[in-house]
Amino acid sequence: MILTIETSCDDTCAAVVTDQGELLANVVSSQGVHSRFGGVVPEIASRHHLELVNAVVDDALDRAGITLDGVEQIAVTQGPGLVGALLVGVATAKALAAARGLPLVPVDHLHGHVAANYLQPDPIEPPFTCLIASGGHTLLAKVTDHRGYELLGQTLDDAAGEAFDKGARLLGLGYPGGPALSKLAAQGDPEAFAFPTAARVAGLDFSFAGLKTALLYKVRDLGEEETARRAADLAASYEHTIVEALIVRVERALATHDDPRLAIGGGVAANRLLRERAAALGVPVHIPPPELCTDNAAMIASAARFVEPVAFPGYLDVDAYAHAV
Ligand code: KG4
Ligand code: ZN
Repeated sequence: MILTIETSCDDTCAAVVTDQGELLANVVSSQGVHSRFGGVVPEIASRHHLELVNAVVDDALDRAGITLDGVEQIAVTQGPGLVGALLVGVATAKALAAARGLPLVPVDHLHGHVAANYLQPDPIEPPFTCLIASGGHTLLAKVTDHRGYELLGQTLDDAAGEAFDKGARLLGLGYPGGPALSKLAAQGDPEAFAFPTAARVAGLDFSFAGLKTALLYKVRDLGEEETARRAADLAASYEHTIVEALIVRVERALATHDDPRLAIGGGVAANRLLRERAAALGVPVHIPPPELCTDNAAMIASAARFVEPVAFPGYLDVDAYAHAV
């Protein structure tokens, strides 16, 4: 039984997972307060984690039908993410582990997104190519081993989810913008506007900053009234450009394999168009259910199964990190 805490951004999460990857509880408390600011405010996220974390852990234990007596390991997201937010999870996990004399497993958040694909009832076994596209990260990885991944390419500026969020903001939609923009896009024409595709970025790296700026200029040129009238077309063209940018790199990565298989993770994996385009690639595609694609502690627990636990008191100086290592 692995009790796991994830607080890297604005969701306070706890989960109980067995060492076989069976999910017994997966609690996510989303902090709605950030929408009024159009994005996550780090200091507010930390304070809310502090208020919520004990209740969320208790709820996960309740739902799993166990008490702390039944927990054998404590796992926690160490980074990357908002340091103040991560520290709440790390301190809570250390305190729980130390009080119980349990080992602690520090987990990388991105390894967690990959490892969401290893949870029961439908785990995928390496080797596979993995696309992680979230609000904070966009990367392509080669996965040959449960214990980690090899980075093939990553975004040079904004993440794909960030591009969705910023685009949504320009179109006057709420935060997080991905689902709202995608919903609006369903009624629009993806060919209505031509947005830049970052074709100059060769290889397996991504870039979305130019796209966001292009939408900003387009909205400015069209004016308020025309932007509102063409909002669905703008959303559809913008979404289409993001998804094609992701798919082109995925195709390039898959082309280097004899027996290619694809797994997808991160919040953007919930995107309908991306799922459709991935399914049409002609290779086996594995996508966890949406609630395991967006941030959650179950994916962190899944990764923890393949990370060396640290015995007490060695983990007392484990620190959070902001950037990918
Ligand atoms: O993985 P995640 O929950 O958090 C991070 O680790 O960043 O991803 C959240 C991101 C947000 O940017 C959100 O707009 C995006 O995933 N997202 C979507 C959809 N659902 C969530 N983007 C496009 N289409 C969606 N349906
Ligand atoms: Zn994430």
